[in-house]
Amino acid sequence: MTPENVRNLLLPPPTEPGARGEAFASANIALCKYWGKRDEALKLPLTGSLSVSLGKLGTRMRISPADRDALVINGGDISPESKAGKRLFDFLHLLQGTRYSLRVESENTIPMGAGLASSASAFAAAVMAMEALYGWDLDYRARSILARLGSGSACRSVLPGFVEWKAGSDPGGMDSHAVPVAPVWPEFRVTVLTLSDAEKTVGSTEGMSRTRDTAPLFAAWPTQVERDLPRIRRAVLDRDFTTLGQTAEQNALAMHATMIAAWPPLIYWQPETLATLHKVHALRAEGVEVYATLDAGPNVKLLYLRESDAAVLAAFPTAAEV
Ligand code: DP6
Repeated sequence: MTPENVRNLLLPPPTEPGARGEAFASANIALCKYWGKRDEALKLPLTGSLSVSLGKLGTRMRISPADRDALVINGGDISPESKAGKRLFDFLHLLQGTRYSLRVESENTIPMGAGLASSASAFAAAVMAMEALYGWDLDYRARSILARLGSGSACRSVLPGFVEWKAGSDPGGMDSHAVPVAPVWPEFRVTVLTLSDAEKTVGSTEGMSRTRDTAPLFAAWPTQVERDLPRIRRAVLDRDFTTLGQTAEQNALAMHATMIAAWPPLIYWQPETLATLHKVHALRAEGVEVYATLDAGPNVKLLYLRESDAAVLAAFPTAAEV
């Protein structure tokens, strides 16, 4: 099965676009990470994963017909021929099933390329803006499968709250999509510490295939997820923050261990990253229950409960709650 086959199973034959489509999708942070594919073209994961939505942080996208493809991100023109531009327009034309030119205006409320999953909210917003532009009527499964074809983690950004991406077993990936786990947990906090908004050097797609191909340690990763995913799911349902935090932090560090063991090595951390992790551990030793998670970049996300708001803000004055 190809991405075009999946498109044709889920969407009607190509038609003329409407006047304009607009949508917002939240970014998401994985508590149990997706790292490694079983099918590159369909972006089918080796394992399931589980994330929490970042609510107001995400991507708003407007798409309208145009004479030629044009892309504006945060008010600045980006060439449709750039790497990011090509990836987005290839995806939009895949969804169209043809090549009507489009003008895309996208606004991110998160730094791009800094390991804050901005591609997740962008591709999810793209599916929903195209749905509005073409008047499709999709359910969340179809939205999730289509968003996955743009970027794996985008399939989790079509739902709010705590979301699981089922790895599925269908070779075409028709069962590999997001499902809701629980709506937002009012006391649960995620804050993003932007330590560096520099573009990451190796993107997730390349990073995960390099890890799979060159790190013998990666063989242990599916076993790690097999243990962590049900634990985190249960912890969300039981509102067992200690189990959730411990498992999420260990899961993120285990993923980074596989990255570091790749060749050439993938060391996404900057000195501030390590300093922040030590600070988190020192806070825990003082009795403030806060945990850390990291994606394919230098930034650290803090996980804690409302009762620790003041202590976390005192320790990390730049912490931006989401
Ligand atoms: C470390 O979804 O960006 O953030 O499917 O190749 O587009 P592609 O990768 P992407 O990978 C995200 C990896 C991660 C972990 C996660 O979000 O689960």
